[in-house]
Amino acid sequence: MSTEDTHRLIAQLKDLHYGTPSDTALRNELYDALIRATVAIESPLDTVRRLSFAPLQLSIAKIAVDLNLFEIIVNQDGPADVAELAQVTKAESLLLRRILRYMTSFDMIAESGPDSFKASTKTKSLATPGFQAAIKHQLSWPQRPAYLCDTMVNTIRFSFEAQLPAWVAMPKFLHDTNYQNPIDPRHTAFQQAHATPLAAFEFAMTRPELFADFSKWMALQRHDQPTWLDVFPIERISQAAKTIELSQPVFIDVGGGVGHQCAALVQRLPELSCRVRLQDLQPVVERAIPGTGVEAQAYDFWTPQLCLNAAFYYLRNVLHDYPDERCRVLLEQQLPALGASSVLLIDEMIVPSVGASRHGVELDIAMMASLAAIERTEGQWADLFRSVGLCVVETFCYDPQTGQSLMVVVPQTQ
Ligand SMILES: C[S@@+](CC[C@H](N)C(=O)[O-])C[C@H]1O[C@@H](n2cnc3c(N)ncnc32)[C@H](O)[C@@H]1O
Repeated sequence: MSTEDTHRLIAQLKDLHYGTPSDTALRNELYDALIRATVAIESPLDTVRRLSFAPLQLSIAKIAVDLNLFEIIVNQDGPADVAELAQVTKAESLLLRRILRYMTSFDMIAESGPDSFKASTKTKSLATPGFQAAIKHQLSWPQRPAYLCDTMVNTIRFSFEAQLPAWVAMPKFLHDTNYQNPIDPRHTAFQQAHATPLAAFEFAMTRPELFADFSKWMALQRHDQPTWLDVFPIERISQAAKTIELSQPVFIDVGGGVGHQCAALVQRLPELSCRVRLQDLQPVVERAIPGTGVEAQAYDFWTPQLCLNAAFYYLRNVLHDYPDERCRVLLEQQLPALGASSVLLIDEMIVPSVGASRHGVELDIAMMASLAAIERTEGQWADLFRSVGLCVVETFCYDPQTGQSLMVVVPQTQ
């Protein structure tokens, strides 16, 4: 299909908002064709994300039914903001904002501005008692959580075994905790679902096959997607390499999984071979990608950083695994290692205040369900860094759709 035809088709599809075929059979045929077309244009990553995160939609719809959100939003006079909705539902506003953002992204309600929401035609359908009953029926609270039981398979297995039980448990967990935003990684829907006192990462460590699935998924989770290396001026890394001792690592990937980002960096800058270091827990570095010229080191990031004065300390998708309090502890373990010209490179999603992507909100809720963690907005990142004496001096966005970005972070005094 030519670019011109594609643009024409997109315009026609957007017009569907203004009216669908009145002939039911024709509408059904169009619906079927659109679903198949959506699947047909999916990348392999889109496919695995669709399958892995689909159950979240039902879980969030159930929470909305429990909070009576569909009816409240349909019956309000014009848009309502998070504070008003928090007052009516008694849910904590931060938690409610995250739920409403997800609902907007999946067209259950509409966004009318930052933190402001209104009913859409779908909200009206979902406020119907019969439809609400259907949602309740599909996801009734379990009495005793039933234990359910190449890389795409690892992901689906990981989502199914580790995450899905937490998503099923989430509506009851939030009800039982009076709809407060979870902030304790050992007190989330995950513990309820898996009947464990352990935090999700600790639990995964007791299930080596689950942890292996997780590590493989981390290595491939953004397969074929742009990365920080597409936007960050990597000549800064080669320059820095010339200014520090040859025996010193230049770049450290803290919590770097099996070393996929380190390997990608050395591929672009082969002269850095042996000066790029991967740090992660022992069982993970044992499975580090071999033959990449990357030095792997077992390191627990809740303890003081072992390697002093490196030029760059890189953390990708690590801070989004933890609530603010834990992030502060983690960052404080790194700070004493920083030399005068060291910087932190924080590779994370920056969720926009309006129009968050579907995948962004999926991850946000998934982080909350299992880890009491959060995908942060620009303001939330700034607050977190400020609280430990750090600030963002540059931001390189490499995926505008999700807000995936590299933040250059330094001590405030620098
Ligand atoms: C969400 S994954 C991100 C992995 C990698 N940075 C990436 O972006 O693909 C979090 C990583 O933190 C590691 N991790 C968890 N707890 C850790 C700890 N206490 N010390 C060091 N690494 C840890 C996990 O093994 C995992 O590789």
